[in-house]
Amino acid sequence: MTDASFAILTCACGAEHAVKSSMAESGWRLAFSRPGFVTAKNDQPNAPLPEGIFIRTAAHSLGQSRNQMAISHLDALRESLVAFSAATSSAAGARPRGKVFDELHVWSKDRAPIGRFDFEPGVDEISRAVADEVFAAIGDDWLRCDAPNRIAEPGSRVLDIVLVDPSHWFFGTHQAQTWPTRWPAAVQPISPRYEPISRAYYKAAEAIAWSGFPMQPGDLVVEIGSAPGGACGRLLELGMQVIGVDPAEMDPRVAKHPKFRHLRARAGDLPRKTFRGAKWMLVDSNVRPEKTLVTVENIVANARTDFRGLLLTMKIGDYDALDLIQQWRSTIERWNPVSMDVRQLARNRVEVCFAVRFR
Ligand SMILES: C[S@@+](CC[C@H](N)C(=O)[O-])C[C@H]1O[C@@H](n2cnc3c(N)ncnc32)[C@H](O)[C@@H]1O
Repeated sequence: MTDASFAILTCACGAEHAVKSSMAESGWRLAFSRPGFVTAKNDQPNAPLPEGIFIRTAAHSLGQSRNQMAISHLDALRESLVAFSAATSSAAGARPRGKVFDELHVWSKDRAPIGRFDFEPGVDEISRAVADEVFAAIGDDWLRCDAPNRIAEPGSRVLDIVLVDPSHWFFGTHQAQTWPTRWPAAVQPISPRYEPISRAYYKAAEAIAWSGFPMQPGDLVVEIGSAPGGACGRLLELGMQVIGVDPAEMDPRVAKHPKFRHLRARAGDLPRKTFRGAKWMLVDSNVRPEKTLVTVENIVANARTDFRGLLLTMKIGDYDALDLIQQWRSTIERWNPVSMDVRQLARNRVEVCFAVRFR
């Protein structure tokens, strides 16, 4: 029995310091870190996992293995699982129960900042091969799932394996609840029907799922900063009516869609009545976030508009400028939202997504 708690966390490369400061308040201290990967210690036993804007995944640590040989990793993993099972069942006063994990999630920590050299986070080729090997080795004894890297049901227990590199594995476990905790690596598994127009397709898809906004086919959505049209492509795929506001040209595949209207202008120059009837707004424009907030405030504070929710992509630009997030929060509070969530989505570069709900 240990009298402390240990956690393994993943984040975007460069966000480690932001992770460290966000968890300090709840008693978690940084132990070991690599770009995109952090372990932490809390002196309290059974401390709840740390949470924070920049924490992409979090799991209670079960151990680690550093070796060139896959077979040794599997031995180390089995030992960690036996120890975990013995600790949890003796705490519950029962014998070890066998298959204690509902799902197996295996992924590599980020190799590069998102977007650099076209890097995208998630389950890569190496982790897919490792997942298959682990599943074949321990599935019968420890896992209830029929394959690795499936989406976990809320409440299910996940065995996590993070490859810091192919010869250094960390083992952990978490209980799935919210969407990011249900997705392997907290990256939404999504297979677009058509080649997305831009990577903003994935960002919009993730923001919509994570926010939990009840966006329905037929709803009118405005996107500010809509060109070339990746996010609009996702909204149209979901059956929404879309107004795209952008001085730049839209990709013809979106421009010609019968449910799409392009307003070729800067958002601040449009009359407020333009937004009448719209329920949702996405903002992904490359203007300064403070200026974006002025534009959005002018729109949502207007009596002619009645937005239910906003998904705002806000560029921080630099992980040393985190105070900005608090300033943006304070500005948005003045709009009287019923809720406001902030997260660095898995697909976000050095930016965060604000989900602001009005009703
Ligand atoms: C990151 S891109 C948007 C990508 C887009 N959301 C997609 O899904 O493909 C930023 C866009 O913001 C637009 N933009 C800049 N200032 C703007 C403004 N004041 N109003 C509307 N769009 C603006 C730019 O023209 C540019 O196309």
